[in-house]
Amino acid sequence: MDKLIVEGGRPLVGETRISGAKNSALPVLIASLLSGQPLRVGNIPHLRDITTTLELLGRLGVQLSLNDRMTVEADASQVVDLCAPYDLVKTMRASILVLGPLLARFGEARVSMPGGCAIGSRPVDLHLKGFAAMGAEVSVTDGYIEARAARLQGCRIALDQPSVTGTENLMMAATLAAGETVIDNAAREPEVVDLARCLNAMGARISGAGESRITVSGVPRLGGADHRVIADRIEAGTYLVAGAITGGDVRVRDVDPALLGAVLAKLRDAGAEVDSGGDWVRVRGGGRLGAVNVQTAPFPGFPTDMQAQFLMLNCIADGTATVTESVFENRFMHVEELRRMGASIRMNGNTATVRGVARLSGAPVMATDLRASACLALAGLVADSQTVIDRIYHIDRGYHCIEEKLAGLGARIRRVTASQWRRETERKAA
Ligand code: EPZ
Repeated sequence: MDKLIVEGGRPLVGETRISGAKNSALPVLIASLLSGQPLRVGNIPHLRDITTTLELLGRLGVQLSLNDRMTVEADASQVVDLCAPYDLVKTMRASILVLGPLLARFGEARVSMPGGCAIGSRPVDLHLKGFAAMGAEVSVTDGYIEARAARLQGCRIALDQPSVTGTENLMMAATLAAGETVIDNAAREPEVVDLARCLNAMGARISGAGESRITVSGVPRLGGADHRVIADRIEAGTYLVAGAITGGDVRVRDVDPALLGAVLAKLRDAGAEVDSGGDWVRVRGGGRLGAVNVQTAPFPGFPTDMQAQFLMLNCIADGTATVTESVFENRFMHVEELRRMGASIRMNGNTATVRGVARLSGAPVMATDLRASACLALAGLVADSQTVIDRIYHIDRGYHCIEEKLAGLGARIRRVTASQWRRETERKAA
């Protein structure tokens, strides 16, 4: 397994382009299943989860072509299989998103139950309850969700929680249902809005995306479209935190600052200097940052996908702060790893109390989930010695070439294979 080797102590300076959003590209690519006409999707990020999604769509019979500018054309006119198998779903939970489109267009779907993951049990009961409310027969047999419906019926669905993929799955299904569907307590994330924009370009009739009530008027069929996914606000936030904690000066480009409202407010509270324009944000770190309290919440609240990065910021900030994770039940796997680097963190249920220390020390650490892994790379940037991050396949799921982008900003970071690292350490020991 590859490792990331990070030498700390350098301020990050420069600018980097933000890639397309993973959590927008996944549902948008899967939306191709709703139509017999080709869907062309631009600004697709080069990530493991995208590769997995394309593999899954290919297995279902979607004809895929990818050009050198990472534009994918997906043609679902010849879908031959309605089953998302366990071996793919277990590597990417978001595969559950094929359920709504397959059910809506073909009247049936068989999708492996996505397991839990490091950050929580990740149930899909709200997805299944919504499909049942639309008239589907839904059962779980031998670890697979089986759903059937001659034609889905529009109805009113009130989500117990504003589930992002739950909203996306039901919204996609509703585009081809008979009549009108209203989704209350819908997720308001920008990725939901981006998906709705793509679906409407395909001929759907969706209104209210981005608000808590989404209304969908079913249509007989959808056509093709050209769509460009929005930038990844979490990738952008991660690099901005890197600039702030290293006392550097980082600009991220091709991103809408409005998608980062809560994150930029927290960076300002911490004492970083934040400027922004139409499609860029610049953060200057200056002196030691001040500790900031954080509580995650559904959009437009502070994003749970930025929680680990800000917990790390607090590890070296001046003062003590609390970080409360309100979305997932187990999203503090990074705490033990940060403690190995000298962080002072006390846990009490879903709240971490972090007392800032002057500096962290490098250490061998292990990535556990996508965003926790990124926070360990950030920690390495401010440690006073070498950090070796293992199991970085987690990082590759959501960050395109993180080491290249960070090195482009002046970080001393490199990727090595396990055998390269073994040889290096043996040479040093000799
Ligand atoms: C999406 O996950 C994102 N993934 C996650 O990003 C993100 O952290 C999360 O939304 C919250 O913003 C994708 O979009 C592919 P939820 P999702 O359903 O949809 C509970 C990353 O780092 N819930 O909004 O799975 C659930 O347990 C990933 O890129 C139910 O109880 O999250 C959680 O507590 C990690 N029943 C809460 O709702 C359900 O049927 C929010 O989960 C569904 C969810």
